[in-house]
Amino acid sequence: MRIFYYSDSVLRWSRDQNPLFGFVPTMGALHDGHLALVKQAAAVGPVMVSIFVNPAQFNNKEDLAKYPRTLISDLQKLMVAGADAVFIPNEKDIYPPELAAVDLDLGGLGKKLEAAHRPGHFEGVIKILHRLFEVVRPGRVYFGLKDLQQCMVAEKLIKKYFPQIEQYNAATVREQSGLAMSSRNTRLTDEGRMKAANIYKVLKLFVGGAWPQNETALNLLRAADIETEYLQVMNLPDFEEASEPDEKKRQAVLFAGYLEGVRLIDNLILNSQD
Ligand code: PAJ
Repeated sequence: MRIFYYSDSVLRWSRDQNPLFGFVPTMGALHDGHLALVKQAAAVGPVMVSIFVNPAQFNNKEDLAKYPRTLISDLQKLMVAGADAVFIPNEKDIYPPELAAVDLDLGGLGKKLEAAHRPGHFEGVIKILHRLFEVVRPGRVYFGLKDLQQCMVAEKLIKKYFPQIEQYNAATVREQSGLAMSSRNTRLTDEGRMKAANIYKVLKLFVGGAWPQNETALNLLRAADIETEYLQVMNLPDFEEASEPDEKKRQAVLFAGYLEGVRLIDNLILNSQD
């Protein structure tokens, strides 16, 4: 497995590859959710993984400072999962001063739910993804549906600036309890992890066409000490708020909230064929 620290060496590696190699951007602290993306990509061809805790996408300094960093074990996991190359950029190299701003109109995606609660977050995600795609030049890129709104933002970016890249959005990998795997879960106590499993239980109440009363859902979460930021069903792909089940539309229920001071997100696509 090759390890790169500088974008010019990544560019050289990328030029020597079959143009259809796969790419998995991450912020490290890798778990089985990340590794599922790496394995999916590795099943098709060579795969590069990036590890960079991107300051531009953190709207909360404390969250950035507390973000887990586990590089050595990340590299071990990537070797086992079958990664061919890892890119570990530093801030100076990946964000040169002459970098132009990316102009991307996100519409409702840029104003609602994650965008509303984390001002500047998607601008930071777009900044890093645009730069990484420019340097890495992959043929395929892999995202996790755990971050559904991010998948949709990436689709817009790719459609406008990198139409040659094929995007794959992989299913959310969960603990046995139903808790969506997340690097931030390591900041929860054992008890917190058990409580956090209630998020998925509440999301599942929306499956089947009879949605719970909002207050009922929020009370269930509150009983598990989870403070909800949003719990909202959206129509996809237009990302409009949905007030009732509609079998003709693709719908997803999205959640964000706090438990033990840790911000957790999850979602469930309600009526998809995938
Ligand atoms: P990070 O949170 O490290 O996630 C990297 C990728 O792994 C994302 O596409 C995310 O959706 C996916 N992922 C995380 N948990 C998952 C799970 N339980 N199941 C399946 N996939 C999962 O998302 C980011 O980093 C950053 O915003 C990034 C795209 C790297 C830009 O900085």
